[in-house]
Amino acid sequence: MDIHKIVIPAAGLGSRFLPYSKSVPKEMLPIFHKPLIQYAIEESIASNLYNFFIITNKSKKLLADYLDTAPDLEAILKERSQEQLLVSTDRLARLGSYAYIRQQEPQGLGHALLLMQSYISKEHFCVALPDDLIVSPDPLLQQLIRIARQEKACVLAVQEVPNSLLGENTVINIKKSISRELFQVGSLSHQPTPKDAPSNLAVVGRYVLSPKIFPALEYLNTHLEGHELPLHAAISQMAQDSERVFAYKFTGTCFHIDTPLNWLRALVALGLQNPQYAQHISEIINETRATPTAWFNKRGSTEIMDY
Ligand code: UTP
Repeated sequence: MDIHKIVIPAAGLGSRFLPYSKSVPKEMLPIFHKPLIQYAIEESIASNLYNFFIITNKSKKLLADYLDTAPDLEAILKERSQEQLLVSTDRLARLGSYAYIRQQEPQGLGHALLLMQSYISKEHFCVALPDDLIVSPDPLLQQLIRIARQEKACVLAVQEVPNSLLGENTVINIKKSISRELFQVGSLSHQPTPKDAPSNLAVVGRYVLSPKIFPALEYLNTHLEGHELPLHAAISQMAQDSERVFAYKFTGTCFHIDTPLNWLRALVALGLQNPQYAQHISEIINETRATPTAWFNKRGSTEIMDY
């Protein structure tokens, strides 16, 4: 089974990061010295996926600029013997082929994927949501592709979530357990209550999908009401029809960078694992704790940065 194409939907509003995301894409949030989207691209390349389709919009031009080569900057850095500063982006720009598809309005992840219909013929393809940053021993997309080839089917990545987070997630209804990590999916349940949840295995933003997703999306597009076309509903529909869909409980962690607090959480967690930053982060927290904060409180607001 040939799987070469990777779709990176990056045309969302990023409303939870406004006003920052008004002109800087959320996908360009810094995670130390690299923007968020770079992690999904590096994971793809490590999984032998080089054929990128990035769903974008008119306020996200920075994404394409970032993934281009930068000859002027390279020349300056060369003069200063600092070429190594661009090695990682230069590698991505030269290794991948990047196509940009414009989504005119943020009408949901399903709508973004539907734009891919004319670029996918009969092959399975991968999808990576750039705001899900994955840390795992092996590249997660590579693991999903292995299972997709083995089962000749669609595969979703899942991780266990506590009851308190079920209402923010889409979880799988298990049709059949193949092993401790692999399940055949019966359907998906979006934002269930703990009482109604069919499992606590939540879908994270890495998928291998078959082209059968397109008729499912098209059907929902004409039958669902609302402003957004959700992807989970189309996958659920496919699993309930004839298409086999599997879920793989991967080893590792997904940082879902959907809010400023979760971005900070990812930075602290990743920083504490990194020898270059760990000691400094602990010191910063200790120093900050020791600093008197009475003048902050006088402002009478917890939104201390807003004027
Ligand atoms: P999210 O729903 O998590 O992000 O989409 P968002 O819509 O950008 O942010 P909020 O909800 O307004 O705060 C997951 C991924 O799908 C892309 C987003 O860019 C993000 O990378 N997406 C979402 C699209 O490409 N198009 C859409 O219409 C919606």
